[in-house]
Amino acid sequence: MRVAVPRETASGERRVALTPEAVQRLAAAGIQVAVEHGAGSSAGFRDAHYAEAGATLIGSAAEGAELVARVAPPSAAEVAALAPGTVVLGFLAPLSDPAGIERLRERGVVAFALEALPRITRAQPMDALSSQATVAGYKAVLLAADRVPKLFPLLMTAAGTIAPARVLVLGAGVAGLQAIATARRLGAVVSAFDVRPAVREQVESLGASFLELGVVGEETAGGYAKELTPEEQARQQMALEERLPEFDVVITTALVPGRPAPRLVPASAVERMRPGSCVVDLAAETGGNCELTSPGEEVVRHDVTIVGFTNVPSLMAADASRLYARNVVALVEHLAPGGVLTLDFEDEIVAGACVARPQEVKA
Ligand code: NAI
Repeated sequence: MRVAVPRETASGERRVALTPEAVQRLAAAGIQVAVEHGAGSSAGFRDAHYAEAGATLIGSAAEGAELVARVAPPSAAEVAALAPGTVVLGFLAPLSDPAGIERLRERGVVAFALEALPRITRAQPMDALSSQATVAGYKAVLLAADRVPKLFPLLMTAAGTIAPARVLVLGAGVAGLQAIATARRLGAVVSAFDVRPAVREQVESLGASFLELGVVGEETAGGYAKELTPEEQARQQMALEERLPEFDVVITTALVPGRPAPRLVPASAVERMRPGSCVVDLAAETGGNCELTSPGEEVVRHDVTIVGFTNVPSLMAADASRLYARNVVALVEHLAPGGVLTLDFEDEIVAGACVARPQEVKA
């Protein structure tokens, strides 16, 4: 089987779907990889590294591959260049970009969205949402630490003592838990809140305290949060408004799949924060958890810096790509056991992740 890796064209996308290490792993499984010239350059992987790993370098990813591995969704022109029947995998945004999925379906390709993988134990090695959320959670803390005019750790010096920074993490899923761990390692005093009651123990085991807001939500069978009712949301906003002035940094990661990001931090709460504090809003892509977030930008409002970058993993492109590529290898090996593409739509992982396929490959 031949797998192709295009150079990503989405704005701001620095990651690459396969690294040289991943090419080597696929080669060992009998899978040839063709990499578009320069595909890894913004993540720090040169064409020569891919060639050494056994990849062929090509001018265009559409050249005769059975499977195309990407990070971001393909543009309309890239979809048009795919031969019908090609398998495409990547973050294809099935919930937020139905028109993009329709384009893939019309083209007759078989598309697998990494966001749609069932979150079952067997699929964990392929779980790119988790791997990229881990990177985002870590980087969010560094972005904040770099912006606040305050040291993170408690410092006892000849000039006296500096109190540690106080960090609040809202939403303690994969990104939030990594943010807690990273802020703790930098010496901050960390609090966190999540609507899923099961999270309290995880927060506390990382050495953070669970913030009591008097709001408890529910968890779906898939382990995700259910959207709060408008009354609960209003209660959460009011409770947070009271508590936010205590913190130097607020990192928000709250998401409800397929819904706009829940609004946790109203403008009035930002207004009450201390001058120089910082909000990093990892939910910016789906509208933001903070009312004053400007998606894709960093803004200062009421003397508070609000970072709303929309592709934070891409800021750590090398390691984000390493993790992503391992997820892709695991999925490719699952779709092509023994190096032969065998799409078994009876399989929960294959059926769950598939977001478009032509009639003739329907089970
Ligand atoms: P996510 O990215 O969808 O959401 C992030 C967090 O926001 C979640 O913890 C959610 O409870 C929280 N949230 C939603 N609305 C909120 C609100 N109004 N206020 C505060 N917090 C709010 O979730 P993520 O990080 O993808 O993980 C969700 C769950 O899935 C976690 O329990 C995670 O451990 C589990 N999981 C299971 C895997 C498996 O293979 N079994 C793999 C990965 C994650």
